[in-house]
Amino acid sequence: MRTLVSRMANAWKTEALGALVGARERLLGLLAPLSEEALTKPHSPLMSPLIWDVAHVANYEEQWLLRSLGEGALVDPEFDALYDAFRHPRATRAELPILAPAEAFRYAAHVRERVLKRLEQLPEEQQDPLLRAGFVYGMVAQHEQQHIETLLATLQLMECFAYAPPAPVAPPFARWSGPREVFVPGGAFAMGSADPWAYDNERPVHPVEVSGFWLDTVLVTNGDFITFMEDGGYARPELWPPGGFERMQREAIQAPLFWRRDGRSYLRRRFSTVEAVPADEPVQHVCWYEAAAYARWAQKRLPTEPEWERAFAWQPGCGSASDFISAPDERSANLGQRYAQPLPATASLGGARPCGALQMLGDVWEWTASDFAPYPGYQPFPYREYSEVFWGGGYKVLRGGAWGVAPVAVRPTFRNWDHPQRRQIFAGFRCARDQER
Ligand code: AVJ
Ligand code: FE
Repeated sequence: MRTLVSRMANAWKTEALGALVGARERLLGLLAPLSEEALTKPHSPLMSPLIWDVAHVANYEEQWLLRSLGEGALVDPEFDALYDAFRHPRATRAELPILAPAEAFRYAAHVRERVLKRLEQLPEEQQDPLLRAGFVYGMVAQHEQQHIETLLATLQLMECFAYAPPAPVAPPFARWSGPREVFVPGGAFAMGSADPWAYDNERPVHPVEVSGFWLDTVLVTNGDFITFMEDGGYARPELWPPGGFERMQREAIQAPLFWRRDGRSYLRRRFSTVEAVPADEPVQHVCWYEAAAYARWAQKRLPTEPEWERAFAWQPGCGSASDFISAPDERSANLGQRYAQPLPATASLGGARPCGALQMLGDVWEWTASDFAPYPGYQPFPYREYSEVFWGGGYKVLRGGAWGVAPVAVRPTFRNWDHPQRRQIFAGFRCARDQER
């Protein structure tokens, strides 16, 4: 497990090496069963061809871990444009003259070989902010893991190539039984991260004040969501935030993505498996509009981002988050794709948070009520395109990571974001409500 202490103490090289090697093993393992055609053809206008992501990951690594550290270029920098996410929308990437699978894998291996040599020679003690505590290595390893999650979403969208994840083994868990809601006390707390591998958008640590609120201890389940559907949830415009109802109507959406009606019940496709929708599993593949409409129907609402972080960090007698928020531990959260689906909503791996909420990390990303916006004092680092270009774009924040997210790529302060209509991501939600007056 990563600890803040090890990084502070200039012992980051082993961790950086492990993070890079771990990401690559996972990337190659995930794509190994796929044919050349499956790797190259577009599967959805929402996603890149799988092999674009591979070369993009390699090109990003070349830019940040070789060229920006003073190493000569492996490829002509003109080539960067092909793999620049801002230059080419995902739907158009299959038409570009991108590297064929064998070339893309060779490029990635070549970059990696040089990177590891360079890392070996690098002194642990660093003053440059890019290298201090190994920041840029952590950034590149997290980037590869983020793209692995994107690849997983593409594999889930593919119908023709029926991707079968390795047989999932559920980690041993206890069944939790406790109240359905907990009261999270209000107060001032320190929001944001001091982890040296945190992204610019998680910084700086800053004081925030929240009022006390009620939070659901467990995630909204498929069974709960079916009750909403059967109560006419998709047909009642008054439940939906502006624009949401019209969008659902226009796209004829009446259930979470990948669900199909089967007589009186529902089936879902999970990669290559079609199975009965498990009632006690957290709902996933719902968009922000669906989450918000459900919450309204339940006479609740989505938690705001500060509320979510407050709930995660709160413990009796302690107001400050950044002192004790630690990196996630795979034994206490369903992360890292050991299990290719969420655990039941009342499954307890590491127990509840001190406030009483379960599964805040792992299982499914949790939609929050909040727009993706900078914290006071935000400084772009090391490049504006990671976060800044998304401010004000109508993106909603998601928290907590999902079953397929690597521990290195999520923190209790980690902020993910997406358009409110996106459903291919591994997202669900929990509800909150105001304190009664
Ligand atoms: C943080 C998941 C929203 O996929 O757009 C990948 C991560 N940034 N390459 C994204 C990212 C650059 C980002 N998200
Ligand atoms: Fe990227």
